[in-house]
Amino acid sequence: MSFERDLVSPEPEGDERAIEAALRPRRLDEFIGQGRVREQLSLVLESALRRNRPPDHVLMSGGPGLGKTTLAMIIASELGAPLRMTSGPALERAGDLAAILSTLTEGEVLFIDEIHRMARPAEEMLYLAMEDFRVDIVVGKGPGATSIPLDIAPFTLVGATTRAGLLPAPLRDRFGFTAHMDFYEVAELERVLRRSAKLLSVELPDEGAYEIARRSRGTPRIANRLLRRVRDFAEVRAEGVITREVAAAALNLYEVDAEGLDRLDRAVLDALLRKFGGGPVGLSTLAVAVGEEPETVEVVAEPFLVRQGLLARTPRGRVATATAWAHLGLTPPPDAVGSAAAPTLFDDA
Ligand SMILES: Nc1ncnc2c1ncn2[C@@H]1O[C@H](COP(=O)(O)OP(=O)(O)OP(=O)(O)O)[C@@H](O)[C@H]1O
Ligand SMILES: [Mg+2]
Repeated sequence: MSFERDLVSPEPEGDERAIEAALRPRRLDEFIGQGRVREQLSLVLESALRRNRPPDHVLMSGGPGLGKTTLAMIIASELGAPLRMTSGPALERAGDLAAILSTLTEGEVLFIDEIHRMARPAEEMLYLAMEDFRVDIVVGKGPGATSIPLDIAPFTLVGATTRAGLLPAPLRDRFGFTAHMDFYEVAELERVLRRSAKLLSVELPDEGAYEIARRSRGTPRIANRLLRRVRDFAEVRAEGVITREVAAAALNLYEVDAEGLDRLDRAVLDALLRKFGGGPVGLSTLAVAVGEEPETVEVVAEPFLVRQGLLARTPRGRVATATAWAHLGLTPPPDAVGSAAAPTLFDDA
């Protein structure tokens, strides 16, 4: 992985988790943006507190670095409940999950990250646990095996996934509330940055915050990371003052482009335009061309490219828009999506 890729990747870097923990909002009213999710969630939590019952199970879906783990921690702290954290890949056997479920205390919040990667037997055990607060423990093997029902304490499951589409319907249906986390607006990222700057004792004028925010790929994790890099640059080269010019110079040095596109984003666009003439091209073909897993291209790069109006997903494959051609400094063909002569996207769907 190149340096540049690390800098704007929405995945956390090596030692970043510790810094992130320090910057994490602890209460719902400190959580910036995602207005609708915040309001809905606050109703769910408040009514649960009034009824003195654990709230419905909550599913959070959204790309990396948008605040899923942060929100799970906030749910527990707003409820004043203990939080148990695990992840889909750690739940390989039903027994792994049974061990956790059977030791939950009443009202505890169980957070399962990457819940779409849980093994099938554990998943089936979870259905019953979510619905009836019960697990069936299978004892013995073969024809002599018996299952012993075991009551578990009422709890709240909080699941997080970057790929809601991969969740089997029976699991999805057992969540009472689903929060879709979207990319953040520039103004919201400016607020994230101002809050972080205060916590890190960095002086951050508005113009500097704006310049960093608009290059942060709609993602708070990236905003916080770019802030630290810009601070380093400003300390060495500009006596610590983060003006707009200083922020821009720092980010240019680190090769974060003005739209916040990272190496993978640009590689995907570049392949789409230069190798496939703007598409349409299938996801797996496109992924091979940039040397990545289709899942990485689909989950990490595409959502942002779509949001920026650079790429469209059509029934025939991925297509570059006229804006994409312009972004890479190329001339779009007359029939590029978004140009005047373009056919509609779904003409033969
Ligand atoms: N709404 C927000 N307000 C302020 N800071 C935020 C917000 N959302 C996320 N952050 C910051 O961004 C960082 C990453 O957030 P978090 O770890 O919750 O993302 P995630 O969605 O769980 O990512 P992943 O999919 O990689 O697990 C945290 O350190 C947190 O400080
Ligand atoms: Mg997380």
